Amino acid sequence: MAEAIYIPKNLDKKSIYESLIPQLRALIEPEPDLVANLANTAAVLKEAFGFFWVGFYLVRDEYLVLGPFQGPVACTRIQYGKGVCGKAWEKNETLIVPDVTQFPGHIACSAFSRSEIVVPLTFEEKIVGVLDIDSSDLNHFDEIDALYLKEIVKLLV
Ligand code: SME
Repeated sequence: MAEAIYIPKNLDKKSIYESLIPQLRALIEPEPDLVANLANTAAVLKEAFGFFWVGFYLVRDEYLVLGPFQGPVACTRIQYGKGVCGKAWEKNETLIVPDVTQFPGHIACSAFSRSEIVVPLTFEEKIVGVLDIDSSDLNHFDEIDALYLKEIVKLLV
């Protein structure tokens, strides 16, 4: 079992993601427990990129319920179609929000969060949760993040 992850520093984010993905695969593949894998994935992303908040919400009936995360205390329950997370679930797509104040219905768990990306986790064509990442910088996320984070969530389900 891989217990340590090498986190490259001073590289562009594409290179960091490319270093992390095989290491995450080695960490996740031998472990069947979803919660354990979500927890380690959140820890790796937080350590690698220093995001303000990174974590998972899991589908429970009509709600997304808070799962493993790294960062400050967050909202525990988000309704289908509400906020960025609920909207990504409803639309079944990755959402990049450059400025959370411009997103109608954004749920502010923290006043420090300024931009956000949400990537759905899909299992057998159903959304089972979302990966949510918040940055304290405006306009933090782009298509590079979307591309690699989609690869990362595929390792999980
Ligand atoms: N901002 C999210 C809520 C979750 S927190 O950011 C951790 C949203 O609008 O769905």
